[in-house]
Amino acid sequence: MNIWFATNNNHKRIELEAILGTTLKIPVQEGYVFNPDETGDTFCDNALIKARELKKLLKNKDDFVIADDSGLCVDALSGRPGVLSARYGEKNGVVPTSLQQNSLLLDELGDNPMRSARFVCTMVLLLENDRFIIVQETLEGQIVKRDGVKGDGGFGYDPVFFIPEFNRTLAELSAEEKNMISHRGKAGKLIAKYICQN
Ligand code: IMP
Repeated sequence: MNIWFATNNNHKRIELEAILGTTLKIPVQEGYVFNPDETGDTFCDNALIKARELKKLLKNKDDFVIADDSGLCVDALSGRPGVLSARYGEKNGVVPTSLQQNSLLLDELGDNPMRSARFVCTMVLLLENDRFIIVQETLEGQIVKRDGVKGDGGFGYDPVFFIPEFNRTLAELSAEEKNMISHRGKAGKLIAKYICQN
């Protein structure tokens, strides 16, 4: 049976394949045009929107679909960028690069001493339109100051996200280390447990 992952982000596919220990199909590689409107107010809403949208496209309706929605919630910014993390800093429909988004975030925070933040990941395993397993996990950390930006692993906000327990940024961890502690890693393991038991 095929398991699909409702994303166009190849980094996220690679991460989730390692977490689940199985290959995943993503729409773009199979010729599906997948561009859901992520209009939900919460990570849960958006994960379900993505999963249902992909399920609608699939030829084989028995295939399982996994979708996630994730983002960075910064306490000093009242939880922003949150569900809008992927589009943070968007102007006239143009989304900045990750490098630019990280720079923007550091500008917004300036010297604010409150640096606490968390990554959040909601993950859903859609069995049928109204039958699903949904989990949400977090990874707590701190947003670095400009001189603390480090590492070239991972993606997105990883180089500005410091993990006190490791004394490194998320971008300095190996893929295995990141998957052990990350929001997506923990959510993926819960979903994997369900798949294995059933
Ligand atoms: P999504 O693909 O709609 O869930 O968007 C998630 C966005 O949140 C990504 O584009 C990144 O900007 C950010 N994000 C989520 N998870 C991570 C992570 O593990 N590292 C860095 N950035 C992340």
